[in-house]
Amino acid sequence: MVQTSSFSKADWQKGYKSLKTEYSYWVDDITGEVPPLLQGTLFRNGPGLLDVNGDRYGHPFDGDGMISAITFTNGKVHFANSFVKTPEFLAEQQAGKILYRGVFGTQIQGGLLQNIFNLKLKNIANTNVIYHGQKLLALWEASRPYRLDPQTLETIGVENFDGNLPAGEVFTAHPKFDPDTGDMYGFGVDAGVKSTINLYKVDQQGTLTKFVKQKVDGFCFLHDFAITPNYAIFAQNPVKFNPLPFVLGFKPAATCIDLQPNTPTKLLIFDRSGQLITLETEPCFIFHHANAYEQDGEIILDSICYRDYPKLEAGIDFLDVNFDQVIPGQFCRFQINLATGKVQKSILQERSCEFPITHPDYVGKNYRYVYMGAIANDSGNAPLQAIIKLDVQTREKQVHSFAPRGFIGEPTFIPDPNGTREDQGWLLVLVFDATCDRTDIVILDAEHISNSPLATIHLKHHIPFGLHGNFTPEVWHS
Ligand code: CO
Repeated sequence: MVQTSSFSKADWQKGYKSLKTEYSYWVDDITGEVPPLLQGTLFRNGPGLLDVNGDRYGHPFDGDGMISAITFTNGKVHFANSFVKTPEFLAEQQAGKILYRGVFGTQIQGGLLQNIFNLKLKNIANTNVIYHGQKLLALWEASRPYRLDPQTLETIGVENFDGNLPAGEVFTAHPKFDPDTGDMYGFGVDAGVKSTINLYKVDQQGTLTKFVKQKVDGFCFLHDFAITPNYAIFAQNPVKFNPLPFVLGFKPAATCIDLQPNTPTKLLIFDRSGQLITLETEPCFIFHHANAYEQDGEIILDSICYRDYPKLEAGIDFLDVNFDQVIPGQFCRFQINLATGKVQKSILQERSCEFPITHPDYVGKNYRYVYMGAIANDSGNAPLQAIIKLDVQTREKQVHSFAPRGFIGEPTFIPDPNGTREDQGWLLVLVFDATCDRTDIVILDAEHISNSPLATIHLKHHIPFGLHGNFTPEVWHS
């Protein structure tokens, strides 16, 4: 059966236009009603600038980080956005051209001579943003966090946690929060033929301590991890990095990665004393984990899996990508038996999906509901246009689709402060509306996501497709 396409490519491409203006305003165009109990700030990060003076970055993931702050207070909504003003960003703006190579696709104009042995990457600070220990931090996994003022969004500078995260060490874009202690856990990888993994804890006062430093065999492409009360779990994708074309200037770094055929994916499991257990499972590629928990001597790990590395070929314009050839991500469960070392993998949800999230109080715990971005059709591949809520116990699912002209990213679950059920709360989704080239902030009732939105907040402009973000109950505008 041939399925009709859920979208037009021209619509999707418009969501990757730069947003050059920095705004700060109260939103007056709201359909429906913002729940009065929804109080706090949603911070989002993503590439906001996809070009310098019309000179496009080779891949959107190389775009400069732009923070959006969406404040909910007494039924009102305030919007503000600001670029992370790293010295590299300011230098490129001043020069009016691209000065740095990107990890994903950006080469400097001028060909080989301009790129050869030029290993200078800029800290694009574009992947995630968190508010923790009274600091607002923009995160990018290949460097240290950038700190911003949560009220004005002014860039303060590189965060080194009182010198405890020295130059040369890096901090993940995917920290996890222990719901029992409020501590933040993060990691950093120094990848090479052998790789070093550092594990960090940042307490509620913002003090960082490194509690594990471990060398592991092979190149580590670790974007995310999962925590449980006793373990930190990584999936080491069976990739090989051939740095020569990058060093020599032919190719951006991310296109020099290949999946090694018939090589198992490794699960690296650290216990709290730093002891490492390494297990193997069938070959697959993982960017994001939804959650993990311990049960009857097993660790259950839920992740989005690709059967191969969704590689970006050098020289192909990302905006011309053929979605029929893009490998779909599927929601999978790994049952890891620590006594026998056996790992059993099963697919819980086949439809192509990404950006899984859960109720924050259930991180590391036996949980029931996961929310994620998905394609609008049951099969094939396309941009994310729908939200799926999956009950991982019954496998029942609810869907809210914004197709054909709406495009979405990572949802955020915000618990109802008076709630008692795991799915009692709100789901916030940024939706790019191609009918008017603007972005809406949509609030869904998380118990019944298929229902009409509780509120749709119409911004005056678009926000380029973003990556990750977090919610804090703190409010800086009222
Ligand atoms: Co990510």
